[in-house]
Amino acid sequence: MSQVKTQPRETDYSPEAPFGQEYGPALMGPFAPVLEESVLDDLEVEGEIPSDLNGVYLRNGPNPRFPPQGRYHPFDGDGMIHAAHFENGRVVYRNRWIRTAGLVEEERAGKATFWGIRETLKGRSDKRLKDGANTDVIGHGGIALASWYMSGDIYKLDPVTLETLGTAPYAQGLGGGFSAHSKVDESTGELMFFDYWNESPYMSYGVVSANGQVKNHVPIQLPGARLPHDMAITSNYSILHDLPLLHEEKALAAGRHKLEFHPEMSTRFGVIPRYGDSDSIRWFEFSPCFLYHTVNAWEEGDEVVMVGCRYMPARTASGDIDSKRTARDIAELKMNARLWRWRMNMKTGQCKEEPIDDRYNVEFPSFRAERIGQKTRYAYLVDHNPEMLHWTGIRKFDTDTGQLLGAFSDGHAHSWYSEPWFAPAGRGSAEDDGYVVVFRWDQANREQQLQVFDARDINPGPIARVKMPVRVPSGFHACWINHERIADIRSA
Ligand SMILES: [Fe+2]
Repeated sequence: MSQVKTQPRETDYSPEAPFGQEYGPALMGPFAPVLEESVLDDLEVEGEIPSDLNGVYLRNGPNPRFPPQGRYHPFDGDGMIHAAHFENGRVVYRNRWIRTAGLVEEERAGKATFWGIRETLKGRSDKRLKDGANTDVIGHGGIALASWYMSGDIYKLDPVTLETLGTAPYAQGLGGGFSAHSKVDESTGELMFFDYWNESPYMSYGVVSANGQVKNHVPIQLPGARLPHDMAITSNYSILHDLPLLHEEKALAAGRHKLEFHPEMSTRFGVIPRYGDSDSIRWFEFSPCFLYHTVNAWEEGDEVVMVGCRYMPARTASGDIDSKRTARDIAELKMNARLWRWRMNMKTGQCKEEPIDDRYNVEFPSFRAERIGQKTRYAYLVDHNPEMLHWTGIRKFDTDTGQLLGAFSDGHAHSWYSEPWFAPAGRGSAEDDGYVVVFRWDQANREQQLQVFDARDINPGPIARVKMPVRVPSGFHACWINHERIADIRSA
């Protein structure tokens, strides 16, 4: 079995720095924005693109259009989608900015007009951060939806041309926002979402039908303002997160963003029936942790089971939780996560948690998403270098047993992988009968590839390497939309 070796990050970020090196490493090398939108076909392929891989792999991420005002954080950038559209053994690559209201405002001004989260918001009379829709992308109702981790608008996109089609009104009322990491139940087409904000009740939860009708949207009372990041669904329930990560109040009042991790508080997961009202949520308490990303959740008898990547709090030399370092590492996206399982008994109220694997720092999970909410075994994750967003390879786990089933990287610390996503094969329906699709940038050799793996065994490496003349900057989340789910919206 090939093993991924985690090595120190290489420090040579030049020459990619379109705004100049004075903006620092967050806008250089693998993080440097690309300033052109491209459509590329007839790309050189080493190996063979399978003919039963049909659909589109979409990856979102920050890509600032203009040099930032003040200090930059990757959360600030304008969302850009990079797409690989596979059809009958061929692939077309496209990249395009999401034309958010913030991007349109800055294009009119010809410069950045917003300030980022590392700066005070006093520079704008409206004190708003820019909703760059740069965090997540999912398929729903035949189109793609892009969203922002701080809760904002929902941007509708053509999943093939990547044209921005406007915003969806799903989250109107209550807090008025829509967070990244909403979930689509592919068996019903329903979209489950959450919103969070800084005034009571602090959270809401909603359900949208396959054709865009809001079927449920209820307030969720939290004890105070929180910074949740993800949710999960089963066939009958949704699982909402109340994590001990808070804004520092004085900083927030002054228009600054500073996080606090509170190890004296519990991590709570709220299980609500899919169409439940506010009072029907049931909360379960667990050991304090932050949780960026869930893998999947399902029901087993009376239990609701959730699998995710538990952020392991930093520790002091004496073994206590180091709350300051934990908050700083979370803010800087320096992840140290382990695959974890939480069980919540809906009949007895009992709950328990356990590590699935305690060895590997893995994050940004994907799985066979058409089985979301049902029990799944296989997860495909990135191998996380502790440095910010540096993913040196991918791993496949059996989340039932904790067994590491595969690992691959090109063996280089200068490999920068994107979030992979599982794409079902046309040939069969076993859970891992499909492919894993991912972008990989080689910073040392200045080489960009789109890689396709056989999901049954990723150890031998890609079955197809698509060589790309343009770079895909390091980014956030990805999805796969199978060809039969892509609506023919251009002929409508
Ligand atoms: Fe995320």
